[in-house]
Amino acid sequence: MNILVVGGGGREHAIIMKLHESPKADKLYCTPGNGGISRYAECFDVSATDIDGVVALAKKLKVDMVVVAPDDPLVMGMVDALQAEGFMTFGPKKDAAIIEGSKVFSKELMKKYNIPTAKYEVFNDSESAIAYLKEQNTYPAVIKADGLALGKGVILAQDEAEAVKAVKSMIDDKQFGESSSTVVIEEFLTGPEVSVLSFTDGKIIVPMISSMDHKRAYDNDEGLNTGGMGTVAPNPYYTDEVAKECMEKIFIPTMNAMNAEGRTFEGCLYFGLMITPNGPKVIEYNCRFGDPETQVVLPMLDADLCEIFEAIYNHKLADVNIGWKTGYCACVVMASGGYPLSYPKGIEMSGMDENGQVENAFVYHAGTKYENGKFLTNGGRVLGVTCNSLTLQGALNKAYDAVSKITFDGAHFRRDIGKRALKAFEGHDLLDLEYKQDMEDYIEENGVYLRQ
Ligand code: AMP
Ligand code: GLY
Repeated sequence: MNILVVGGGGREHAIIMKLHESPKADKLYCTPGNGGISRYAECFDVSATDIDGVVALAKKLKVDMVVVAPDDPLVMGMVDALQAEGFMTFGPKKDAAIIEGSKVFSKELMKKYNIPTAKYEVFNDSESAIAYLKEQNTYPAVIKADGLALGKGVILAQDEAEAVKAVKSMIDDKQFGESSSTVVIEEFLTGPEVSVLSFTDGKIIVPMISSMDHKRAYDNDEGLNTGGMGTVAPNPYYTDEVAKECMEKIFIPTMNAMNAEGRTFEGCLYFGLMITPNGPKVIEYNCRFGDPETQVVLPMLDADLCEIFEAIYNHKLADVNIGWKTGYCACVVMASGGYPLSYPKGIEMSGMDENGQVENAFVYHAGTKYENGKFLTNGGRVLGVTCNSLTLQGALNKAYDAVSKITFDGAHFRRDIGKRALKAFEGHDLLDLEYKQDMEDYIEENGVYLRQ
C-alpha cells in the first residue's frame, strides 16, 4: 500500500517509522512532514489543515490509505472529505472528533452516560462565570476554553484574581477566538495523570500501553505548559486494577456513548486520566494519537500498524492480534532555546547520522528540516529522543545518553523525565531498581534482549 500521513511532528514521525516496518507498506508520503520524516517518506508542502489540498494530493499520488494525525484537520472534517472521495482513511469523522473539539460536548457526554469526570458548569457570559467562581470560592479553579486552543486553553487559577482574569480574557477578549467564547469551569482533581491511547473501530476498543506526559517546560514541573517535554511508557501508576476499572467505567462506556449518539468513533481515542483518591476520572479526551505519547507507545507495539489501520477502517479490529513488547520506553524532548515562548529557527544540529538518527535510539523529529545534507532546527519542540529497555531506569539512562550525543545552540530539555514514574517503584521489592538494572545488564551481555 502507498500511504499518505498528514502532519509534521514527532508523532507523525513515530507513525511513519512504524508503518515503515510493515510488510504491507510500500511508498510512504507525508505532508508537510519534516527533516527527519523526509529520510523515510517523500514530503510535500501542503498544510495539514488544507482539506482541499490534501484531497488533491491524495488523488495525485493515488494513495491506498491516508492517516490524518493532528487534531485540527480531524475536527474540521478532513476524514469526511477523504472518505467521500473513496480513500481508505484512518481517523475519526468530524461528528466523532467533536469529543476533542468541544469540551462542552465531552463534559455533557460524560454526564449523560455516567462516565467519571470532574464536576463542572458551562458559561458563555463572564458575569455569571465570575458569580459562580465567587459562590464556589474554592481554589485552584479549573477554567477551560470550549474549543481547540493549541493546548493552551486550560487555566488552573490559584486565586480569585487569576480566575477572574482568565474568564475575562477568554470570554470577553476572545483570547482563543470563538474557541473560548464558551468556557467550562470544573472541579480541581488531584492524583497522578495517565494517558491511555486506544484503537477503536466502534465495535471494540483496544487500549494501548499507558504513558505519562511531562507538560511543563522545566524540571520539577515548573515553567509554562508545553505540548509535552517527554514521556514514559508504561505508566507505573496505571496498575492492572486501575486498568480494569478504566475499561469498565470509562473506555467501553465512552465507545458505547458515542455509538448511542450516532457519532461512532473510529481511530485513536485518547483518554487523559487522573487517578484520584475516588478512582480514575477523565480529564480530557483527544480524538487522535498524543504527542509525545505516541513516541513511547508505538515503539512498544508488537503488531503491524498498517494492518490495524486497515482493520479499523473495515470494522474488523477484533481480527487483529495486538501485542506489546515487555519493558519500558522513555522519550526526552529536545526543544529550541526560548520554547514555549519565542525561539530561533534554522540552527544547525550535529551528532546525528544522515538519517537524523543516533545509535541505539529512535530519534523522532518534531521541528527540523533537512537541507544540503544537514539537519536544521525548525520548530519549538525539535526532537523526541526515545529508547526502550527492560527497566524504566534503563530506558531513561539510554535516552539521556542519546540526548548527550546531539547538540544545537540553545537546546534545552528536562533532566527529570521519568522521575515521578520511578517514585512509583519505591518500596516494592520485586521492582527494586538496582536488581532490575543488574538483570538488564545480564540480559544485554548475553544477547537475549535487543529490541531496537
Ligand atoms: P488539558 O489541556 O485538558 O490536558 O489540561 C492540561 C492540564 O491541566 C492537564 O494535564 C492537567 O494537569 C490539568 N488539569 C486539567 N483539568 C484538571 C482538573 N479538573 N483538575 C486538576 N488538573 C486539571
Ligand atoms: N501530549 C498531550 C497531547 O497530545 O494532547
